[in-house]
Amino acid sequence: MNLDHIIVEFDRALKTLFVKKNEIINFDKNKDFSSRQMSSHDEKLSASLMRVNHSGEVCAQALYAGQRLMAEKTSVRELFSKAMEEEASHLNLTGRRLGELGARPSSFDPVFYSVAVFIGVLAGSFGDKWSLGFVHETEKQVEKHLDEYIARLPERDTRSRSILGKMKEDEMKHADNAIHAGGTPLPLPMKLFMATGARIMKKISYRI
Ligand SMILES: [Fe+2]
Ligand SMILES: [Fe+2]
Repeated sequence: MNLDHIIVEFDRALKTLFVKKNEIINFDKNKDFSSRQMSSHDEKLSASLMRVNHSGEVCAQALYAGQRLMAEKTSVRELFSKAMEEEASHLNLTGRRLGELGARPSSFDPVFYSVAVFIGVLAGSFGDKWSLGFVHETEKQVEKHLDEYIARLPERDTRSRSILGKMKEDEMKHADNAIHAGGTPLPLPMKLFMATGARIMKKISYRI
């Protein structure tokens, strides 16, 4: 870890949290009509679910940033950088979708980011093997979560559903890549601790 890396990560944190998401992402843009046919109840439900997913992607940026700072091997740092590019696209997709649904990101995102970057640094401090194991477990839990949220979305919200479907594909790839790069499976108490943390984040961002 050196000062340059810390400055880069700090800049990224500010962009994740405060820059207006005006990047145009060429994703399914011709199919953006589903929300117009949704009831206000359904639109509210979609907004709550997508706010959770957006906060999840804020956390993904922070976890990877923390872990990248601590990465021992260049190949691992590069793997994290590559994953972060895709996570940034998830962040933008969920952020834009929230806007389309007339909702705002969670007010707790700066708190989530700060906690997650600390956890990322901590995970990274145990070495690449464990850090990659942490990525694998995180992405596996995210994959499960996405399945659950895809099922909970209102039937007519095909746009949000296709965004989550695309994200799931990427998260599965991130999990596989982490194991192939030498990740070690985490012990059960650690997995449960991570799931509990995610549950708290989801409870808060669903509402606020
Ligand atoms: Fe993601
Ligand atoms: Fe991911």
